[in-house]
Amino acid sequence: MSNGEKKPLRLGVNIDHVATIRNARGGDHPDPVRAAALVATAGADGITAHLREDRRHIRDDDMRRLKEEVDLPLNFEMAATAEMHKLCTEVMPHACCIVPENRNERTTEGGLDVAGQHNFIAPFVRELNDAGIRVSLFVDPEKRQIEAATSAGAPVVEIHTGAYYEAAAATTPERIEAEFEKIRTAAAFAHSLGLEVHAGHGLTFHNVQPVAAIPELAELNIGHFLVGEAVFMGLAEAVKEMKRLMQDARTGAHY
Ligand code: PXP
Repeated sequence: MSNGEKKPLRLGVNIDHVATIRNARGGDHPDPVRAAALVATAGADGITAHLREDRRHIRDDDMRRLKEEVDLPLNFEMAATAEMHKLCTEVMPHACCIVPENRNERTTEGGLDVAGQHNFIAPFVRELNDAGIRVSLFVDPEKRQIEAATSAGAPVVEIHTGAYYEAAAATTPERIEAEFEKIRTAAAFAHSLGLEVHAGHGLTFHNVQPVAAIPELAELNIGHFLVGEAVFMGLAEAVKEMKRLMQDARTGAHY
């Protein structure tokens, strides 16, 4: 795919951590649904929210309200459990992103082991597809996981960019380049198999542009940095700046 053929890159804003702040005090403020409506006016292309088993941030009713009250496609992030399957098919979001979940983790730590759990994941994906929900599997940038996602029938993969983020925060340029190269290669491979390719986790103003320039990517999902940056510049301005950086990377303006 040449530079001139790059498709537009959507920004999905993950509003989980607006709910984290709300839940720190209980009550209703700040309302993640209000945040979602605000980012819609600032140029976001979608909303992502993760309903975790322990409900540490987003709650069931937030998901219902995000679907009913916000005029953007909703990406329902969840673990592959019977409880989440039921809630997801009640809410009927535009898309569902299946992630691994570990009760003690601070955030999603690794990609889903689709290759190792294929017999369990494939029917789960099929049922959601049949219900009319577009399924995405959150995977590490590894060929065997992408192949397994294809054979499980998922139309979309989201590539986990967390190792790239960690490399950028703590290690050498060679390590950052090596982690970036894994993402680039995985995106090209997934695209060649006919998958729609998304990426996310740990993306910031400082590390987003090389990822945004990968031509095979169709969507980035970004949350924690935007909600954190909202303290300093406001959520709408943070979303606008992220979109500007993504678009500049797409047209080569940052190189
Ligand atoms: N995509 C997926 C599948 C995630 O699990 C997360 C974190 O909830 C994100 C994107 C957003 O990551 P971050 O909050 O680090 O931007």
